[in-house]
Amino acid sequence: MQSAQQVWCVVTGTWQKTQVGGSSVSRKRLTPNDRKVDSDDMASSMPVMPDSCNWFSPVAESRQRAFTRSQRFGVWIEIDGARLLNFSSNDYLGLSFHPAVQQAAIETIRHDGFGSGASRLVSGDDPLLHELEDALARWKEYEAALVVGSGMLANIGLLNALAQRGTHLFCDKLNHASLVDGARLARSATHRYAHLDLAGLERSLETHPASRRIIVSDGVFSMDGDCADIHALMQLAETCDALVILDDAHGLGTVGPGGRGLAAEAGVQGHARLIEVGTCGKALGAYGAFILGSSEIIEGLRQRCRTMIYSTALPPCAPSAALAALKVLQEESLPQKLQENVKLFLHLAQQAGLPFVASRTPIQPLILGSDEAALQASSRLREHGFFVSAIRPPAVLEGTARLRITVSAAHKVEHIKNLVKALVMVINT
Ligand SMILES: Cc1ncc(COP(=O)(O)O)c(C=O)c1O
Repeated sequence: MQSAQQVWCVVTGTWQKTQVGGSSVSRKRLTPNDRKVDSDDMASSMPVMPDSCNWFSPVAESRQRAFTRSQRFGVWIEIDGARLLNFSSNDYLGLSFHPAVQQAAIETIRHDGFGSGASRLVSGDDPLLHELEDALARWKEYEAALVVGSGMLANIGLLNALAQRGTHLFCDKLNHASLVDGARLARSATHRYAHLDLAGLERSLETHPASRRIIVSDGVFSMDGDCADIHALMQLAETCDALVILDDAHGLGTVGPGGRGLAAEAGVQGHARLIEVGTCGKALGAYGAFILGSSEIIEGLRQRCRTMIYSTALPPCAPSAALAALKVLQEESLPQKLQENVKLFLHLAQQAGLPFVASRTPIQPLILGSDEAALQASSRLREHGFFVSAIRPPAVLEGTARLRITVSAAHKVEHIKNLVKALVMVINT
């Protein structure tokens, strides 16, 4: 009789399915590139994982994540041969397709090649990274900036570098996963307060009078599109002698004067207690992320931010594209155009009686409750020619599955009008 087992393969670093029949073990055929390991040696020296050992707990069908193979063309997206209008992208200003951004990246690749070849502290410290840091620090009015590989890496590296043992972190419960994971990895104590609950945060600060305290919050919240009250957070920080880490990944280019984000809107940009995180992969249409703060903080991060120190630097074409995007953003008043589109969408949605929650940002969630309702609405929108992905737990709270609609400056008035019409048909029938 044959039974299935899995055996660890030291060459491929994966579990290989085996058929065990009598005393012989026949391994699943490996790909031609895999070096074969003697099966007897392997079976005797390596641990055997019985099939009954579940490495991942089962995922309910309505929670299964799946890649959607797709190709973007500006505000359009092609899926399974169908061209749909994309209302599910963080390319809020349409800059990823802007000719100046494309040209900058292409020229840099021609001149510098693609990969950076090493981490910044070894030999990957391209001058364009410094140029981008200077440009961002100037535009956002901070003393200094540090460019990091991505927003995920920025938040994990920042929290790990800053939050030592004895530090207390005070985190909004709906913070982005990168802040949640950064707090988990840090050696500090973490206290979570209810979403936007300033009184709760104040109570928590009062009951944990540690000498090193950091308030950690998204600026524009990624799944709800609502905004932290930066003014109030800074006041609490002042009273409690704390720092504030503000991840305004979705605020850059979308809110505040000239798209400079929530801190600039509150007039607290560059404050000595404020450390801001932003990304280049959303409104700037490029890739990478940055941390802004005082010169001391940024120098400290150069010494201690492990996700920068131990990771290959961004390819030079990434800061090149981000620099070009920053220039276009300022020259073409794109954040203003985006705000006009957001207002138009809100006006039409309100007129149509669609139950949107209050958000003045391009992130417009339509909360439908069950996973099935969100999936069905997303699929029906596709039939009407629109791509809006269904967001389900654990990305959002249980019972709040939703359509997360994102408006872009690149959408035309007709696109927005037609989306609202399609939403009405999908929601009301
Ligand atoms: C608030 C927030 N912070 C950080 C990130 C991570 O940024 P990146 O995609 O550059 O890793 C995201 C990404 O979606 C985000 O929404």
